[in-house]
Amino acid sequence: MSLLSRLRSLRTRSAATSPASPSFSPELLPEIKQTGAWWRLLPFTLYRIKLADDLFTAPGDGFDASRDIRIRIVLDLCGGSLADKTIVDLGCNEGGFAVEFARLGAKESVGIEAREVSWLRCELVRKLARLQNLKFVRGDVMVELARWPSSFDVVFASGILYHVTDPHQLLSDIFAACRGAVLIDTHVARREAPSHVCSEEIVSRTFGGKSYQGRLFPEVSDTARESQLWAAWGPNNTSFWLLEDELLTMMRAIGFHEIQKVDPTKYGGDENSWAVDKTNRIMVVGKK
Ligand SMILES: C[S@@+](CC[C@H](N)C(=O)[O-])C[C@H]1O[C@@H](n2cnc3c(N)ncnc32)[C@H](O)[C@@H]1O
Repeated sequence: MSLLSRLRSLRTRSAATSPASPSFSPELLPEIKQTGAWWRLLPFTLYRIKLADDLFTAPGDGFDASRDIRIRIVLDLCGGSLADKTIVDLGCNEGGFAVEFARLGAKESVGIEAREVSWLRCELVRKLARLQNLKFVRGDVMVELARWPSSFDVVFASGILYHVTDPHQLLSDIFAACRGAVLIDTHVARREAPSHVCSEEIVSRTFGGKSYQGRLFPEVSDTARESQLWAAWGPNNTSFWLLEDELLTMMRAIGFHEIQKVDPTKYGGDENSWAVDKTNRIMVVGKK
């Protein structure tokens, strides 16, 4: 029986028990890997990815990355076509954007994701999507990205910068891995007042010999790390959210140029076409 047929039949039987919440019981992983019970990976926490005509990774209200403005912004950065472009999706979660870049014809689309279950979900998509130009790597971006010097025309960094302690290291590694442009989609700290349980006080941190201001954001505890699928990875209990102007200053200091904040309204679409929590959230592009 093919994987697809097996998935269809097993999924039907398991529909009542499949996990639907963004958390996942890591103790299921050995069973999935040993018995090939891939159906246990469905439904995904968010991304609705087409696996076959009648099979998707999430129900109808799941998130379809192909409709999100971030795809259009990346296309714009590439002059309208991804042909000949290599692209990396950092903290790719279940692979929704990475698979879309591959389907749009990127020369190579690489997703890097730290969490095992999310990476396995990516691998499930890769196996069924049969895209030769799609690759997933399980790893910590703070370690993995440094292994890819000058490798990508586009670095897609969505929902990851606000999950690190050292934004300067991540931006420097992005700069080193990038040949063309980066799209950063991130929360920032507001000077006037905190949001998202960030610290009340604005604190300074020194990176690359220069002081930057921001707020501290508490991350999940070590014990919850493998089960909280959208949180920070690695030995990081506190992320550092830069103030917006400090992010732009840091990018400049690292060497990016033509740094621009993206105006989402320019890309039109409906309210859901930038499907994120928009509180203190910005998109920034920078060129190498
Ligand atoms: C907020 S989610 C964003 C998901 C996706 N990029 C998006 O924009 O929809 C953060 C993702 O990054 C992953 N992640 C967090 N820290 C990471 C790290 N240091 N290395 C690799 N992946 C990480 C998480 O497991 C999760 O999938």
